[in-house]
Amino acid sequence: MDSTRDVTGESPSPIPTDGPYRHGVASGDPTLDAVIIWTRLSEIEHTIAAVEWVMARDRALTDIVRSGAVTTSAEHDWTVHVDVTGLEPGSTYFYAFDTDGCRSPVGRTRTLPRVDASELRFAFVSCAKFNAGFFNVYGRIAERDDLDFVLHLGDYIYEASNTPPKNQTPGADIGRPFAPLGECRTLDDYRTRYAQYHLDPDVHALHAAHPMIASLDDHEFADGAWREGSDNHDPERDGPWAVRRAAAFQVRWEWLPARKPDPNQPERAFRSVELGGLAELFLMDYRSRRDRPVFGAEMSDPTRTALGAEQRAWLVDRIAHSPAHWRLIGNPSPFAQTWQPGLSDDLHRSMRALKFMHATEDTVDEDQWDGYPAERDAILTAIDAAGPGRSIVLAGDLHVSLALELTHPSDRTRPLAVEVVTPSITSQNLDEKLHLTPRTAALQIERDFVNVIPGLEWCELESHGYVVAAVTAEQIVLQWWFVDTVLERTGVETLGNEMVVLHGDPHIRPAR
Ligand SMILES: [Fe+2]
Repeated sequence: MDSTRDVTGESPSPIPTDGPYRHGVASGDPTLDAVIIWTRLSEIEHTIAAVEWVMARDRALTDIVRSGAVTTSAEHDWTVHVDVTGLEPGSTYFYAFDTDGCRSPVGRTRTLPRVDASELRFAFVSCAKFNAGFFNVYGRIAERDDLDFVLHLGDYIYEASNTPPKNQTPGADIGRPFAPLGECRTLDDYRTRYAQYHLDPDVHALHAAHPMIASLDDHEFADGAWREGSDNHDPERDGPWAVRRAAAFQVRWEWLPARKPDPNQPERAFRSVELGGLAELFLMDYRSRRDRPVFGAEMSDPTRTALGAEQRAWLVDRIAHSPAHWRLIGNPSPFAQTWQPGLSDDLHRSMRALKFMHATEDTVDEDQWDGYPAERDAILTAIDAAGPGRSIVLAGDLHVSLALELTHPSDRTRPLAVEVVTPSITSQNLDEKLHLTPRTAALQIERDFVNVIPGLEWCELESHGYVVAAVTAEQIVLQWWFVDTVLERTGVETLGNEMVVLHGDPHIRPAR
């Protein structure tokens, strides 16, 4: 493993379980010369708390490059964000906070690579359901010293109730109930839920080790969220959706180490990130701006939108015209159609459990991109305009590992781009949903999926893990890393698969 990204090799300091820094330290949204550093204060007795911060080249914080002071208060839920500027590109830094004479744990972060970088390496993840498992995936990523950043494709939190309605999978019986126990609906609820996540030692370790670039999916708001509601949002019981949506956005900005792409638009999360002259990373908001998911003929209405007019115009233009060598399209929910008509009941059972198809009918799941075919075609057309094999779609949300090839919307024989789907961090997949013994019946189901789903080159339907993408001008190597369980805290991970995509060639192949 390349260890050049941490020059010290020293182990991180543990996060205290009490005192002002119990929610840890974090960093995110790095640029060539800046990064956001974050912490959250507890047990503060003043109305406004003063916080000093320091950024250094070494973990001992002796070679200081920047320092300063900020304040926070209950208005920001005592969270602290500092946009530290004037840094060197492609460099590792260490940071800490001081308040009332108390020093925080030391975090490590890294700026984005130089514009002439020869390689970029990042992990990407999605779907961390607190009550479904331990965040071993975060713990293993935290141990790595070969990453420039961690990309989170969404479902950083789940807003769900600990006793959810029938259309959601309940948690595992492992003594990790959600706080609050009920579904998050108010500002206080979302703050309590994020605070619970930030008390987890693997969340601490992840954030203290790497900067995060985060997108978002529906559970940052509510299950099946769309522009004016969600599956279980009842305005009479829960109040106006706009108020709940604004609260969810506010708390996300408070508790993530993130920089608003437009400070005047707190409900804008979509943006792109330039990556070392090698790639442009597009981060999409697929949930908060979309038309209501519908089932039937209306689904094909060409005016229906998943992105909303502003985001769609931006994305289609940038994909088609970006000067970047690679386009990395961070897409919370996969583009690929994951259903085929006329399959056996057995296959349908697995596809329904995994939300690869409609819950009751022999058709697509309207909640996925399959439910917005016209807009998906517009994006695929932009990918085609950029040139085949110059884009790669990075997706999550389905909780399983997939390697797919996407084709031109009007010529299904013409491949355009590869789609790589990361498994969940903890959210339930095939064995947990169908109560199978792991790696038994799934082996045949996985072979059947590859045979019947167009463009599916490989899948693994039962493991939790993450994907590491190593990007050079010539190729992108994808490694799926799996943890052995999420039902207890363990340190074991294995390389589940390694595949490669060559620049200009819209196919994915085994790496060796
Ligand atoms: Fe999810």
